Parts: sequence; C-alpha cells; structure tokens
Amino acid sequence: MSKPETGQIDSVMQEDRQFPPSTEFSAKAHIGSMDKYHDLYAKAKDDPEGFWGDCAKEELHWFEPFQQVMKQDGSEYSWFLEGKTNVSYNCLDANIEAGHGNRTAILWEGEPGDTRALTYSELHSEVSKFANVLRGLGVASGDVVSIYMPMTPELAIAMLACARIGAVHSVIFAGFSAGAIADRNNDAEAKVQLTSDGLFRRGKILPLKETVDEALEKSPTVGKCIVLRRAENEVSMVPGRDFWWHDLMAEAADVCAAEPLDSEADLFILYTSGSTGKPKGIRHTTAGYNLWTKMTFRWVFDWQPEDLYWCTADCGWITGHSYIVYGPLSNGATVFMYEGAPNHPEPDRFWEMIDRHKLTILYTAPTAIRAFIKWGDEHVEKHDLSSLRLLGTVGEGINPEAWMWYHEKIGYGKCPIVDTWWQTETGGIMMSPLPGATSTKPGSCTTPLPGVVPVILDESLQPVPANQGGMLCIDQPWPGMLRGIWGDQDRYVDQYWSTAPGKYLTGDNARVDHDGYYWIMGRIDDVINVSGHRLSTIEVESAMVSHPAVAEAAAVGRPDEIKGQAIAVFVSVKGAEASEDLRAELKRHVRKEIGALAVPDDIRFTEALPKTRSGKIMRRLLRDIAAGKEAAGDTSTLEDFSVLAKLQGDEE
Ligand code: PRX
Repeated sequence: MSKPETGQIDSVMQEDRQFPPSTEFSAKAHIGSMDKYHDLYAKAKDDPEGFWGDCAKEELHWFEPFQQVMKQDGSEYSWFLEGKTNVSYNCLDANIEAGHGNRTAILWEGEPGDTRALTYSELHSEVSKFANVLRGLGVASGDVVSIYMPMTPELAIAMLACARIGAVHSVIFAGFSAGAIADRNNDAEAKVQLTSDGLFRRGKILPLKETVDEALEKSPTVGKCIVLRRAENEVSMVPGRDFWWHDLMAEAADVCAAEPLDSEADLFILYTSGSTGKPKGIRHTTAGYNLWTKMTFRWVFDWQPEDLYWCTADCGWITGHSYIVYGPLSNGATVFMYEGAPNHPEPDRFWEMIDRHKLTILYTAPTAIRAFIKWGDEHVEKHDLSSLRLLGTVGEGINPEAWMWYHEKIGYGKCPIVDTWWQTETGGIMMSPLPGATSTKPGSCTTPLPGVVPVILDESLQPVPANQGGMLCIDQPWPGMLRGIWGDQDRYVDQYWSTAPGKYLTGDNARVDHDGYYWIMGRIDDVINVSGHRLSTIEVESAMVSHPAVAEAAAVGRPDEIKGQAIAVFVSVKGAEASEDLRAELKRHVRKEIGALAVPDDIRFTEALPKTRSGKIMRRLLRDIAAGKEAAGDTSTLEDFSVLAKLQGDEE
C-alpha cells in the first residue's frame, strides 16, 4: 500500500528518557531556568530588532554606532547598518581593556606533546605583528587570504590578523588535496597563501608545503606564500614568492590598530562541499557573525571565567571558526587547542589530556564518540575525568545509545550534554539545550535558541503536525546567518530561499515532539522511501547502534521493484564477529526496537564507513554501492579512499 507523497517523514523512533539539569548546575548558570529561557525567547521573537540592537550595543565595541538593526532586500539581509566595528578588536583589545590581558587565551598542545600558552596580551601582540606582515606583503582590506595550516596557535593568529585589517580569510582544512586548494583559491581569487612546512598526524609528518606548491601552480591569483616552521621537514622555497613566517615576524612591529570595518564587511569565506558538485564559498560578515558566536557561546556552554574549554574541531571547519576562535575569544575565554589525532600515541590521548590539564568543557563530534566506544572503555577508565562539567556534540545526529555512553562514561552521569544543531551557513548554534535550564532527551537537539524561529513544512509548504517529519526551515532572519555564496548570489537565492519563499531552507528534515523538542532526521536527500513510508536515516541507524555489537551504522535506500526502495544498512561491529547469525539477530533487534517497516533488507558488514574529512558519513556513496553501481560524483571530500575501495570490491 503506498501513501501519497506529501513530503512528510514517518517517525518510528521512541525515546522517552529525560535528564533535567542538577539544581547545583542551574544555580550558577547564565540561564538557570526555563522561565528565563522563555522570557528571552519571547523577547527575541516578538521584537527581534529591539532585542538584537540592545545586544549588539552591549556586546560589541563600536567605532561608529549603527543606525539600523536589520534591512531586508529580497533574499539579502544586512545587520547593524552603517556601524563600524572590528572582530579582532572585540576578541583581543576589548578583553585587555576589561583587565584580562594576563588571562590565558590559548593553551595549546602539539601532537608530540609540546605545549604553549598565550595570554590575551601576548595573542594581541602576535596578531598585531602578523597583521603588519600581511600589510607588508600588500594585503589590503577586502583581499582574500587562503590559509592551509596545522592546528597551531598561528592558525588562530592568522585568522585574527586578517580580521584586524579587513582581509577575508578562507581556511582550507589541512587534509585537502592540491586540487581542492587550487579550486578554492581560484573561486575566491586569493592573493596570499599561508601554510607550514608540515604537521604532525598519528606520529607522521604531513608535508603541507609540498601540497601547497602543487596547488599554487594552478592558483594564478596567489602571488605570495608565507610558511610557518612546524615540523622541521625539508621544503623548497620559491624566491620572491615564499617567505618564512619567523623571518617576517622578526621584522614586524607589534602595534597595529584594528581597522574600523563596516558591519557588513566580509569576515571570511568557508567552503562547504554541499552534497554534490562544486564547493560553495559560504560568506560570513563582521558584526552579526561576531554577535551570534559571542552570545551563543555564552548561552550554550554556560561559559564561566574559570572554565578550561576544549572544542576538538579543526579551524578548517565552521565549528573551529565559531567555537575555537571567534565565540570563545570574544568572551575572554581560555581555549584549549590540540594539534593531532585522538588515538596518538594511544587511544586514550583525549582522556589523558583532559585529566592532565583539568579541562572543564568538552565539545566534540558523534563520529569521534562512536570511535571511542569502538576502541573500548578501558582507555577512558584509566583517567580521572571529574574536572569536566559540561559536554557537547555537533556535526551529525547523535544516536541515543552513543549519547548514553557519553553521559555515563565521560560525564560520570553529572555533566549536561548540549547536542548543538547548526550549519556552516548559520554561523553559529541554532538549536541546543541550555545546560542550566533544559531537560535533555538523548538524540534531540531540544529547543531553538532565542532569535531562532524554526518551522517544519511538508512539500506543499504546510506546517506538519507534531511528530511528523518534514523540511526544517527558519522563519526569521538572525544576525549570524550567511550573507551569500562567494561569487554566486543566484545559487544562494536558489538553494536557500526559493523552496519556501521568505524562509531559509536548511536542507535537513526534522520533527518536533509533543514537548516542543526538535529531532533532526537527516538530510532531505537521504530520506528512504519504503512502500510510500518515508523513513529517516538516523532513526534506522540509531536502532542498529542500540545493539551492543554495533559500533556504527549507515542506512540508505536502494531501488526495489516492489517497495520502491529497500533499506540497506552498512554496519561496523565492535567486539563481535560479523556473521549470518549476527545479521539475523540485528534484523530481529530492529523489528523489536522500531517495527517491521524499518527492518533492513540488506545488512553489510564493513570495517569502516566512508566519511568526509569532517567526519560525516557519505551516504551518497553508500547509496550507489547498495544499488550495485560504481560510486559516482564528487569524492574530493572523502577522507579515506581505501574504505570505498573495500566496499566496492566486497561482492556479497
Ligand atoms: O545535517 C545537519 C548536520 O550537519 C549539517 C551541517 O554541516 P556543516 O555545515 O558541515 O556544519 C557542521 C557543524 C555545525 C546539518 O545540516 N548536523 C550538524 N549538527 C547536528 C546535525 N545533525 C543532527 N544533530 C546535530 N546536532
């Protein structure tokens, strides 16, 4: 029996556990009750201009005050018009003026175990010097600087130096290929490249400069390249084009006044792959982005001055931009930054560092959590994690069983977990528990932050009832929103604003439950349609992961003559043998957990799943494999090609 296509998604997930914040946590929190949250939420929804105007005046330094809070022109939005501010000033000078110059801004650890700490005053001085270095090479306001660097303090210094002089940074994750760098450099018309000799990853040196040399052969707009010495590996330097970071810094003055920049001056471009085709350069600008990351950091992580906060992302992703650099530093936070892999020299590296540095907040990704579960609890149990008071996740939905593991094994049952839903495009967190107020439910990103007005629509653009999945859109502009796609405003309008006119289309499916909690159901393109029932990938995957033998699962649809689509699940197991018996048991398990409708037709065991370099499962490739086709389309963002090769070679 087939149902008419309505765009609705049928939810089959049942998750009733709830975890309220402790009274102790709430008592000290910035937002310590749901009443306070509801009050803020209502103010931001009913009078967004009044609310954000007051926040912007209070939270940012203005060289010249803004005259208008928000202006809409078709699908283009501007915030804090005619105001002049500077993000680097707000992150550095403002904190020094407030008396925090001697507070540690960045506490860094390299993979080999070397450490460094920079106070706000020291960071200010390094950023000012590097801003002068960039100016010395001819970089002016509006020029694009391409950054392909390791996770060292210099990466943050480079970003803040660009912001100081109005240059636009484009950070490219230091795992991308030469071709990917060149594509991004050409699209952005980058003028200067920043890189390092190499970086340490799992005990080996990755020769970044070598990759950059190849990229620059195909990047005609890039005239200069600055090279940081990090790994001491040999590199070739092109005279007139390449300069050592330390040589230029040795000559640079450490005074460089932050340039008053227009609120809407471009701050950065960040390329995101989209599901297919050419990467998109997402544009974020100055004041609105700065305000959004500053406020959301404080609300969601309930940041307090004594916190030692660690976000495990790389600055090559939006999470690193917003919650390693701009959000934390504009609050005056102390940020822990780590260069290397989570399993070097041993799979307990994260826990060892948390214990040794007594870190208090950990923000990481579900993909990492699932890896830790697979590696075994013994690595966690060796260390004392009692310094932690708050945990966070981002990047994908977290399966409820992985959430419970994180809660019990890492948070000792006492740390709230903030499951933060957002996107490169949104600039900062959009939905998340507020840890002193919200009762959490494993697998739900709970409720929208003040200023975020979500709606869930079916294909005829009608709101869906509770517990029906549909397209997640955002119905009110917010200061941190993307301003466009670099060089392609038509694609920006088409992709984000034309499906539901006047509403921002997130590209995700979601449902809202009877308590008003949001549950992200996966990307719109990934929905599996079995006999007219549209199922969410994450719900099927979560049912699989709730079996103790399953470490990770990816569900996709494959063509089926009778049902339209059949469900194929790729599974990696932990502590069990992949066998026919296990396959049958997993099918029984899903039938029991969520019902016959979601029982997979195919279960394929695999050592690892194909993932993007930021850790997201590439279901698009798995769809092709499940359908018996060669995996086609763009694979430039795939992390490990051997995984794909193994899956394709595996004739079952
Ligand atoms: O599908 C959602 C998923 O990641 C997408 C955004 O990816 P990106 O632009 O790379 O940014 C990642 C870091 C913010 C979203 O459209 N996603 C992100 N966070 C969550 C999530 N899915 C479910 N739950 C989340 N907490």
